[in-house]
Amino acid sequence: MAKHMGLIGCSIVVVLSLLFAASEAARYNVGDRFGWSVPPNETFYSDWASSKTFIVGDTLVFNWTGNQNVADVPMADYNNCSTDAITFTGSPNRTVFMITLLYPGPRYFICTVDDHCARGQKFSINVEWPFSSGPSPSARPPSYSSAPSPSFGV
Ligand SMILES: *[C@@H]1O[C@H](CO)[C@@H](O)[C@H](O)[C@H]1NC(C)=O
Ligand SMILES: *[C@@H]1O[C@H](CO)[C@@H](O)[C@H](O)[C@H]1NC(C)=O
Ligand SMILES: *[C@@H]1O[C@H](CO)[C@@H](O)[C@H](O)[C@H]1NC(C)=O
Repeated sequence: MAKHMGLIGCSIVVVLSLLFAASEAARYNVGDRFGWSVPPNETFYSDWASSKTFIVGDTLVFNWTGNQNVADVPMADYNNCSTDAITFTGSPNRTVFMITLLYPGPRYFICTVDDHCARGQKFSINVEWPFSSGPSPSARPPSYSSAPSPSFGV
């Protein structure tokens, strides 16, 4: 019996590690080598984000120097670059701030320092469920409404 339980425990570990391997969490350096700062143009961070697919469990790494911060805000505050948001601030020298994306749906990040947000230090992403690339909803059961009605006799 004890042997059996050991085998079952082993199988569970194997299945779990396979699941984790399949959905390996990624770590993204926001802005890549540029880091998190006032970008060279207003579309810099939206361009950066649009080339990626973010999955629950992934981590965003904000790496910055000087006077920057990060706020995780609702859409309205993102659109109007609200400065009322609660921010994650760091040291004036170098800050590496990480946010793990724990739930699916849209997320909005801005810097609330001066006019940084208006100058493009902002981006939004849509966090997806893991395994969402499985069977798609288009694999619907066949519809019978247009099927010809069976006819019997001659
Ligand atoms: C914004 O700046 C980046 C980095 O310099 C550049 O690759 C990109 O083409 C620029 N985009 C626009 C719209 O100017
Ligand atoms: C942050 O950026 C600096 C400069 O690009 C780089 O040397 C450092 O390795 C980065 N840190 C992390 C944790 O990515
Ligand atoms: C931005 O929008 C939010 C939500 O509608 C509002 O509470 C806030 O006062 C606005 N801020 C600015 C600077 O317009």
